[in-house]
Amino acid sequence: MSPTQTPQPAPPALRALLRRMPKAELHLHIEGSLEPELIFALAARNRVGLPYPSVQALRAAYAFTDLQSFLDLYYAGASVLLTEQDFFDMAWAYFERAAADNVVHAEIFFDPQTHTDRGVPMASVIVGLAHACRRAHAEFGISASLILCLLRHLSEDAAFATLEQALPFRHHFIGVGLDSSERGHPPEKFARVFARARELGLHVVAHAGEEGPAAYIETALDVLKVERIDHGVRCTESPALVQRLARDRVPLTVCPLSNVKLRVFPDLAAHNLPALLDAGLCVTINSDDPAYFGGYVAQNYLALFEAHPQLGVAQARQLALNSFEASFAPEAQKARWRRELDAVVERLAG
Ligand code: ADE
Ligand code: ZN
Repeated sequence: MSPTQTPQPAPPALRALLRRMPKAELHLHIEGSLEPELIFALAARNRVGLPYPSVQALRAAYAFTDLQSFLDLYYAGASVLLTEQDFFDMAWAYFERAAADNVVHAEIFFDPQTHTDRGVPMASVIVGLAHACRRAHAEFGISASLILCLLRHLSEDAAFATLEQALPFRHHFIGVGLDSSERGHPPEKFARVFARARELGLHVVAHAGEEGPAAYIETALDVLKVERIDHGVRCTESPALVQRLARDRVPLTVCPLSNVKLRVFPDLAAHNLPALLDAGLCVTINSDDPAYFGGYVAQNYLALFEAHPQLGVAQARQLALNSFEASFAPEAQKARWRRELDAVVERLAG
């Protein structure tokens, strides 16, 4: 799009399809779904003081200059979470929104160190979240699983200790991820922890190439042996890497609104997701931290399609297909979602 063009709403049939087609969400930090209203409600319930006088004042502080400026607020927001009920309530609020966007499958990140370092028991975190996942399946038909993320700004020892502490709850999570401040904390720092996670039969994923260089994507693949890359948008700095990602269909869980809010791209029109899709990569659309970045997953689809008018029904369908392909769900389940997707495409855009 040229700088003089303003984004136009996508045609109504395409907007309906983007909202109503079944989709998987694979990159969602549950602590990033904590809306300011819920932060204030939990702060009151738990008698935790907040440095903001009101919901509006807190929301007004959501003007980020980079990843770290966001993380500082995100960790402060999570300080209101103390009990198993708090973790349930946070996740339940996410599932209600995900159901409205027809998310049929969610693989959800959680950051245990943010809580255990404040004295919150690991059991409260995991049992509360797992309870919400079970209820989301029962009430909304959403299949949901948890991925334990290790904070890369903390030490390897701390990561090992966290993984060991979580092992009594091994049946409640399917994988291990790596998040937080990327620059200066390359994937190699966690080579041994990820080897241990793989030994335990856990899936492995890592944030790489969000703010960090393309080389971090390569070491996440080669050293950590991850199955998906979270973000990965800086892969375009290495044409050989782009070719590899396309050839091996390594999924990238891309988060368009997050990338603009954290200034990875100046605006959505400059986002490289359409180019990556064209290059044959298994890219997916996700919301990252929707309470902080201005939209849940359907809003991410809508905003991106609005900024790139060349994207249409074929790309919408491909992105939903990619989300199923990239998920850790069983093959038979993926086949059912693909059939459901084609029925919705036929009905709304056929
Ligand atoms: N934790 C929550 N959101 C994150 C992001 N976008 N990048 C790295 N760590 C995160
Ligand atoms: Zn993320």
